[in-house]
Amino acid sequence: MSQSGSTHPQLLCVIGDPIAHSLSPVMHQAAINALGLNYQYIACRVLPAELGDFVDDVRRTKRLAGFNVTLPHKETILPYLDEISELASRVGAVNTVYWQGNRLCGTNTDVAGFSYALESLGKSLSRKSACVLGAGGASRAIVYALGALGFSQVAVVNRTIEKAQALVESMSPHFPDTTLIASAWQHERLDSFVATSDFIINTTSIGLAGEPYPTLPFHRAKADAVACDIIYRPLLPPFLTQANASGLQCQNGMAMFIGQGQASFQLWTGQTPPVDVMEKALVPFLS
Ligand code: ATR
Repeated sequence: MSQSGSTHPQLLCVIGDPIAHSLSPVMHQAAINALGLNYQYIACRVLPAELGDFVDDVRRTKRLAGFNVTLPHKETILPYLDEISELASRVGAVNTVYWQGNRLCGTNTDVAGFSYALESLGKSLSRKSACVLGAGGASRAIVYALGALGFSQVAVVNRTIEKAQALVESMSPHFPDTTLIASAWQHERLDSFVATSDFIINTTSIGLAGEPYPTLPFHRAKADAVACDIIYRPLLPPFLTQANASGLQCQNGMAMFIGQGQASFQLWTGQTPPVDVMEKALVPFLS
């Protein structure tokens, strides 16, 4: 859909369940307003049983110019769309839907979002090593980003080893120059990965409900290691609180959130959103 002369704003939205907590409307609307575009970005609760009807309705009525997809629909939406980008099918998850002519296309901007977050640290990323904790949907996008950034080694550590193994097996063919290792959440292996990794990355949901993070041997980490989390509420989640106490440089999930939003916004509007405006709009909701 293109911008028309109509005074009615074109609608963009994020779908999920629950969705009331989403900060995507705040972030995107701030960018839309700053650029003077005629869009409105809203949150829309879609229950799992309603997902197919929702996509059909958007295809038929064209009432949305595009939309974001969050939990629990990132994986289940794939069969309902007309086209899936190669990236999204490799990651196995869609977080952004946009129009190509009359076709609804799904892609994944979480990969670009995480790359943006790491690049914003201003460090060299080539041939580095990472330890990724967790093997869910977020982990898949992050491991893909690390492979694409040219990391030499990525260890995926997960409570359920089978999920880590499946993730590594599906990603390995795409990144022949990256050694991908699957590991159980086990003290000795964690000791070694934490001690040798340049980036230690939490993708698990531990801490979201305020529960403590299992103790990690951050005191053994390299002096210049960076701890990254995908959580940004609270700004210093339990994983980063622990890493910070051991003196590690820490980055929460806000940069990844902004990075994925920026890439989605570009797909829908063809314009580059002002990152500083997006960040500033989020601040009151994060403190
Ligand atoms: P997302 O799509 O956001 O990544 P997910 O697919 O539900 O969410 O994945 C959540 C991740 O957090 C998983 O790796 C999960 O481990 P399991 O695969 O063993 O379930 C991890 N996780 C959640 N709670 C955990 C806990 N208490 N201890 C260790 N890992 C946990």
